[in-house]
Amino acid sequence: MGGASHLTCRVALLLCLSITASNQLSVSSGTDCTRIKALNPRAVSGVYLIQPAGASLPFQVFCDMAAEGGWTVLQRRSGTENISFRRGWAQYRNGFGKLHGDHWLGLEKMWSLTGSRGGRFRLRVELQDFKGGSAFADYSTFRLGSERESYRLHVGAYSGTAGDAFQGTYPGIDQNGSAFSTRDRDNDGCSPCVFGDIAMMSCSELQGGSGWWFSSCGSANLNGDWHPRGDNIGWSSGVYWKSWKGPAPYSLRASVMKVKRCDSSSAPDQPAPSELRRFSGIRLSQGRSHESLKLIRFQK
Ligand SMILES: *[C@@H]1O[C@H](CO)[C@@H](O)[C@H](O)[C@H]1NC(C)=O
Ligand SMILES: *[C@@H]1O[C@H](CO)[C@@H](O)[C@H](O)[C@H]1NC(C)=O
Repeated sequence: MGGASHLTCRVALLLCLSITASNQLSVSSGTDCTRIKALNPRAVSGVYLIQPAGASLPFQVFCDMAAEGGWTVLQRRSGTENISFRRGWAQYRNGFGKLHGDHWLGLEKMWSLTGSRGGRFRLRVELQDFKGGSAFADYSTFRLGSERESYRLHVGAYSGTAGDAFQGTYPGIDQNGSAFSTRDRDNDGCSPCVFGDIAMMSCSELQGGSGWWFSSCGSANLNGDWHPRGDNIGWSSGVYWKSWKGPAPYSLRASVMKVKRCDSSSAPDQPAPSELRRFSGIRLSQGRSHESLKLIRFQK
């Protein structure tokens, strides 16, 4: 009896503390950007702290709150900073770049969001060319396997204006269902792959040492080398989405990959038991009062 009202009190106190903390840190907490937007409809685009159910520690992401619903950004290219995407497995696993600019969030974080312990998400890919044109590709679901499964890509039904480059522009190169490859971890299915008079073993090496869900090698790679206007056609390594711009290699001006939660739990009206977990992000990051949070979880 007394325990229950005591618990309510503590939950209310934690809510207040996390609001104060988010003002100070200019970050908020939640399991993903869709949840943060649902809990705070006036939230603006920027960097937020999240802790998906599948993550043991909270981490920062860029939330695109301008588009309806709140989107968690996974990847961005714009060429405005000179961020190299020529990286090995460890860096693709952990993430790199600047969250406000060009970056790769990291496969482990993407998996903690969308893998079996995370939620259900849809994917939007947004693309821009050098003539003011833009296109998008939507996938009704987006999920990665674990590191043991080499972060295999699983996407649901396609819709959009850019074409389904994950599936590819000819048979046998479907990236849907493919494992991730880097220059130091090869899962691309080439042994070798032959393109005209070129035979090669590694799609990553052909494409600047970048990492992607290559499949002999496929029609999409948004992690290749970025090329400036006028010098963006014909490179073996570029920022590609060939079902939109091709078949001659056309390296795009910009890309964004972002996910939005699509299950019914995206708009909880009050903290559910699982919701208590999201406060542990803020608490842990401040390194104090972590004991009282544990107490609440056990009291429940
Ligand atoms: C970009 O960085 C690469 C190395 O990562 C360097 O070789 C190149 O000169 C840089 N370009 C510019 C424009 O700074
Ligand atoms: C990806 O593969 C799965 C499993 O084969 C399939 O259900 C899904 O429709 C595929 N997605 C696309 C866009 O083809």
